[in-house]
Amino acid sequence: MHRAAFVHAGLNGNYTARRVGAADLAQAVADLRRPGVLGANLSLPHKESAVALLESLTPAARAIGAVNTIVHMDGQLRGDNTDAPGLLAALADADAPTGGLSVVLGAGGAARAAVYALRQAGREVLIVNRTHARAQALAAELGGRAAWPETAPWAAVTLLVNASSAGLDAPHDSPLSTFPALDPRALVYDMVYQPAETRLLRDARRAGLRAENGLGMLAHQARLAFAAWTGADVPVRVFLEALHAAADAP
Ligand SMILES: NC(=O)c1ccc[n+]([C@@H]2O[C@H](COP(=O)([O-])OP(=O)(O)OC[C@H]3O[C@@H](n4cnc5c(N)ncnc54)[C@H](OP(=O)(O)O)[C@@H]3O)[C@@H](O)[C@H]2O)c1
Repeated sequence: MHRAAFVHAGLNGNYTARRVGAADLAQAVADLRRPGVLGANLSLPHKESAVALLESLTPAARAIGAVNTIVHMDGQLRGDNTDAPGLLAALADADAPTGGLSVVLGAGGAARAAVYALRQAGREVLIVNRTHARAQALAAELGGRAAWPETAPWAAVTLLVNASSAGLDAPHDSPLSTFPALDPRALVYDMVYQPAETRLLRDARRAGLRAENGLGMLAHQARLAFAAWTGADVPVRVFLEALHAAADAP
């Protein structure tokens, strides 16, 4: 995605992936202070532990307590979280209903970004997680209410966001063993994009609902990170086309 964005923006840059173990995270982050490095993305499990290694945080990264993007400026590293606005942009593209209740499934880093983003957008949020105590702790910290799947007011739910890792590389696994009866206008948004069609999305479509996987969010969070590193505003379609090309590659 980012290589395609460099080409589109006419910039001479490169983006590479690197596997970093927990013991090497501090050194890998310190390496970002070298001249010529624009920054980095972080993925699981470093999004939270990297916070302490940075000079500053954006308000979103501070509130969420997790960074997915590091921006390098003159030897100083700033942590940002583009998952939160990336989700909102993907929901807007999918024409998600704005009224009614929103449910976030999960209570890990992605769920924290989702709850923060949806609350910032003025939505009423319920958090449902396999470990209920974590949902309660998240609601106490970022707002919203924790709910049990058995007693949540599903019929009032117009947006269901899966921010749990259930379904990731597991096409038969769903965070909801029984798919609930949602408001018929509801959008089901699964942050998982691998596989492209999760059991949750299949269940939602079978119930006659609109359902989207997490590729749009992935593209939008990348677009925002790229803009933070380079100042270039590259259209989201460039990121999406690169994602689809990668998915179609043998
Ligand atoms: N589309 C995007 O751009 C994007 C961006 C960020 C993340 N993601 C995706 O979001 C997902 C979550 O990431 P994360 O960083 O938040 O992970 P995480 O911090 O490890 O949290 C995982 C969450 O999933 C729950 N969970 C795991 N397996 C489950 C199962 N079988 N049934 C029900 N709940 C289950 C966990 O529940 P417990 O609390 O009970 O352990 C926990 O709340 C991943 O699939 C990731 O790829 C997508």
